[in-house]
Amino acid sequence: MTKLADRTTRIATSPTMKVTATVDRLRRSGVEVIDFGAGEPDFNTPDLVKGAGHSALDANFTRYTPVAGIADLKRAICDRYQADYGVDYKESEVIVTAGGKQALFNAALSLFGPGDEVITHAPYWPTLTEQIKLADATPVLARTYPEDGFAIRATTILDAITPRTRGIIVNSPCNPTGALISEADLGAIATVAARQGIWIVVDLCYEKLIYDTVPHNLPRVLAEKCRDLTVLCGSASKAYAMTGWRCGWALGPAPVIAAASAIQSHATSNVTSITQKAAVQALTGPQGTVTAMLDEYRERRDLLHEWLTADPRLRCRKPGGSFYMFIDISDALSGIDAGGFRTSLDFADALLEESRVAVTPGEAFDAPGFIRISYATSMENLREGSKRLLEFVGKHAPQTATA
Ligand SMILES: Cc1ncc(COP(=O)(O)O)c(C=O)c1O
Repeated sequence: MTKLADRTTRIATSPTMKVTATVDRLRRSGVEVIDFGAGEPDFNTPDLVKGAGHSALDANFTRYTPVAGIADLKRAICDRYQADYGVDYKESEVIVTAGGKQALFNAALSLFGPGDEVITHAPYWPTLTEQIKLADATPVLARTYPEDGFAIRATTILDAITPRTRGIIVNSPCNPTGALISEADLGAIATVAARQGIWIVVDLCYEKLIYDTVPHNLPRVLAEKCRDLTVLCGSASKAYAMTGWRCGWALGPAPVIAAASAIQSHATSNVTSITQKAAVQALTGPQGTVTAMLDEYRERRDLLHEWLTADPRLRCRKPGGSFYMFIDISDALSGIDAGGFRTSLDFADALLEESRVAVTPGEAFDAPGFIRISYATSMENLREGSKRLLEFVGKHAPQTATA
């Protein structure tokens, strides 16, 4: 019998990646699928950024770099956060990582350990809780609710604090709900965290994908209240359509960054040298491509919302950020006798099998009864996929909505 380490029994493969793998398998066997599962931009990396990657290769910039990243990139990250949020970080307070995922993982391994509780909000991006477990700590969930727009409330987070609480992880804009935390709620959390010495880790991977002009200066709020207890994790993946390049970063107190660098030095070392040069261009170059993508996502969001809400059994709000629509399909599910689908997992499986539309079931985010649609895909796909989804619901769901 294969005897694996205990930690492997405590974690599961990323369920969101599983949908991607299934779509890939079906496509390779010649089946045409509309993929609403993908958690990545369908846009190409902007030309200037690709150009910087080409130039790096041509200049033979292909060797190891310092583990925490080249000085130019660390400077570019600090400058970006200064320009966007008015916060001051030094190069010793930043590390370049293989995507936001590694920034968050480094933070978890540097800050949390056995016996610690770490609070995050649910529904959640599953990597956040799995990383807490990989750090041998225990995730504690503070729920957010659809009727409240999945708002991340300070009261629910603060109510979850116990003497063992070591950290709080906030993801805003949130995957899968698209919700944003308000500055006031984060401020209230930060005040208590400062008093009790609790770490706050913020996952800002969707920070450039906020549709309305709402106050969302989370770095500033935290810098004012508890800078020494704050780790900001960001990424080039979504903002600059660079998912495959693998570039993220963490900003935080120098001792945390030093610990993260030590961990990374024994795990992956530096982020790909070519990627780092491209990321410098992304962060310091013109930001017009970011807003152009955001405008396109907004148009898709609005139309998708209009199409889907034509059926009252598909209940959803327009997300404030990210590129996900999180839909309550509980009215489209039925009991065993009705012959429909009892869970969102069954629903998603059947939708893929029968209508060739891939969505991520809410179970992946600890939210049964929901499905997540990524609108990081063409308008044509959104139109066709919505049509198929509405037909599928029309065929299988109970006729009367409960609300
Ligand atoms: C909430 C959230 N945080 C972080 C990430 C990490 O992305 P990357 O590692 O590509 O930067 C993702 C990716 O899907 C995400 O959804």
